[in-house]
Amino acid sequence: MKNFSKPKDMKNTFNMLLKYLGTEKKLMFSFIIFLIINSLASFAPSMITAPLIDELVAVKNFKNLAINTLIKYIIILAVIALVGVISNYAYNFLALKLSQKTVNRIRKDLFARMKYLPIRYFDSIAHGEIMSRFTNDMDNISDALNNSLPQLISSFITLIGTLAVMIYLSPILVLVTCLMLPLMLKSSSMILNMSRQSFRDQQKNLGILNGFIEETMEGQKVVKVFCYEKNIKTKFDECNENYRSAAAKSQIYSGIIMPIMFNINNINYALSTAIGAVLILLNQLTIGRLTSFLQLARQFARPVADLSSQFTTVQSALAGAERIFEIMNEQPENQNIESQVKLDENILHDVKFSNVTFGYLPEKIVLKNISFTAKPGEKIALVGSTGAGKTTIANLITRFYDTIDGSIEIGGINIKKFSLKNLRGLIGMVLQDTHLFDGTIIENIRYGRLNATDEECIEAAKLSNADSFIKRLPHGYNTVIHEDGNNLSQGQRQLLNIARVAVSSPAILIFDEATSSVDTRTEELIENGMNKLMSKCTTFVIAHRLSTIKNANTILVIENGEIIEHGSHNDLINEHGRYYQLCSGQYELK
Ligand SMILES: Nc1ncnc2c1ncn2[C@@H]1O[C@H](COP(=O)(O)OP(=O)(O)OP(=O)(O)O)[C@@H](O)[C@H]1O
Ligand SMILES: [Mg+2]
Repeated sequence: MKNFSKPKDMKNTFNMLLKYLGTEKKLMFSFIIFLIINSLASFAPSMITAPLIDELVAVKNFKNLAINTLIKYIIILAVIALVGVISNYAYNFLALKLSQKTVNRIRKDLFARMKYLPIRYFDSIAHGEIMSRFTNDMDNISDALNNSLPQLISSFITLIGTLAVMIYLSPILVLVTCLMLPLMLKSSSMILNMSRQSFRDQQKNLGILNGFIEETMEGQKVVKVFCYEKNIKTKFDECNENYRSAAAKSQIYSGIIMPIMFNINNINYALSTAIGAVLILLNQLTIGRLTSFLQLARQFARPVADLSSQFTTVQSALAGAERIFEIMNEQPENQNIESQVKLDENILHDVKFSNVTFGYLPEKIVLKNISFTAKPGEKIALVGSTGAGKTTIANLITRFYDTIDGSIEIGGINIKKFSLKNLRGLIGMVLQDTHLFDGTIIENIRYGRLNATDEECIEAAKLSNADSFIKRLPHGYNTVIHEDGNNLSQGQRQLLNIARVAVSSPAILIFDEATSSVDTRTEELIENGMNKLMSKCTTFVIAHRLSTIKNANTILVIENGEIIEHGSHNDLINEHGRYYQLCSGQYELK
């Protein structure tokens, strides 16, 4: 999708793009050489016609026509044509190579940079937005390098070259053309401005239409269940019609530019012919020269129109490049890579929060003064109403976000002292949303620890109760998972997630609503698997179901970002406080 916006900092973006192009110096150099040869070949024949015609006119008696002269010119013209064809093929091929290599490198760099961006960044930007930088913006750059850049340079050379030859042929006639040039430039830029606006409208409407289709596809179940088909159709028709009318308008504008330019050029042509004829009569010009001049004058409109239209494409590609470089300039996560601080993964560690204060936005504090200690091997349950701050606590332990105040220690060491790799290597996390990758079941389990053997993966699956369902699948552990596990049930996906965490044998385990979206029987199965895992870790469980929480060593009741009660199940029931309220009457806390 083209996006006709202007870059904010044209110079900087251009420099960065140039740096990428500069890495392919040889390619760039040969591309420009062939491009220049091609441009020269495109107007050289006009230079040959002048002497050819003049020599022919001079030969009054055609019987005496020097056949050799004719052959000479034919050969010269054929060689020029051949050079034109070869150089055209060569520079197009080189432009393709240059653009593919450059875009490939930018894509690589962008992806590499994305790996190090913090969760904070991904939480703050729509995923579609990042996707569109990888696809649309990249396409824009590749398009511009592939087509617009060669055309822009070639139009420029052709324009200058044509003008030079025209001046050489007849300076007086050039004056006529020069009078037309501003008119041409002005009218083309005026139409382009109008067409740009309508192009923007077209893109906006296309975006709305695409978004609508995507949303409807994703929400098919909801659409069907609420019998929304008819409304959807009306809405779709409306979006579709808006897009059609905007696209038609933009096509009309871009369609009229060439005819207008050619008409102005035709005036130029007619004037040049008339004045040229007078000059011949006055013996100021030869017929050959006038013919050549008129040939060039006819072609004159094309490079002018091309120059102005390609300029817009290049501008929009620069705007795309700017959006890509924006991601590359984002502050990466503080990896603390040099840090050698490491804890023994084979023993259990305590986790200590001391006066931790945190907010996703500095002005909105989500956790206030949180202090607690999870002793090695203990199970800590976090309960509280929705939005209380439970998931936030988990986000801080993994350092997806950093505390504003206070400290978190694991095994007596502040978590900021670890490298992120070492810290996250200690932790296993199971969330409500499962995420599986394209690949077989065993590959998905092995994602937990890449050097795990098949036996270890199967062992982990057994421990987490996933083994029995996997064995019942037609291809067992080699069953291929598609599209985030669409061919598995929610519960099965969750069991696989737990097996994946089990194979990584973490020292600290976090379960965030791991059993929220499965039925009671599967829940028992999952819990059973979780319990076996928990016995080997210091565990945090966030859950709404009493059965999951009851046997925790400590239950922390969190409300509005504060711990309002803590203790064992029995202690808290006896306290008759918030926990008691939450529990009484039902097993479901929410
Ligand atoms: N990425 C984010 N950016 C800004 N605010 C956020 C973000 N994530 C959560 N919050 C806010 O932080 C507060 C605590 O959210 P948190 O996800 O920790 O709640 P929770 O206790 O896990 O709730 P639930 O039981 O619904 O999962 C909420 O008010 C929420 O609006
Ligand atoms: Mg939560």
